[in-house]
Amino acid sequence: MSKIALLHGPNLNLLGTRETHIYGAVTLADIDARVAAAAAPHEVRAFQSNHEGALIDFIHDARTWADGIVINPGAFTHYSYALRDAIAAVKLPTVEVHLSNIHAREEFRHTSVIAPVCVGQICGFGWRSYLLGLRALLDHLQEFA
Ligand code: DQA
Repeated sequence: MSKIALLHGPNLNLLGTRETHIYGAVTLADIDARVAAAAAPHEVRAFQSNHEGALIDFIHDARTWADGIVINPGAFTHYSYALRDAIAAVKLPTVEVHLSNIHAREEFRHTSVIAPVCVGQICGFGWRSYLLGLRALLDHLQEFA
């Protein structure tokens, strides 16, 4: 049985009411519940923060208990070298997910500084991006761990 750290970055606590035409109407609590249900019997520990340092602390701690990470870094995706370095440092297989297709949006969203330290990136499928990311991570762990 694997243990998965599920991380959500800034503003994702507002899912359900935030720009629903882009991000959909599903709340973060619903996403966490759907991921946990899909992951069973594997264990998922979810964490959301609007603070870069808190996300980094969670990633450092995950080194002691997690087998892999699914992360939606929110806007940190595009510029947080600190988050990228944290993922590289703990060496846990990580899948980057986004609700929206970041490559089809504003120019600044086309770059992910996180993607190069991840196994892969999934975006554009709304809340289902999280389920696809989880599936990809679990399959990766089974094949390579
Ligand atoms: C997002 C895309 C980011 O560009 C944005 O800053 C977010 C959400 C997504 O899930 O589509 O906060 O990560």
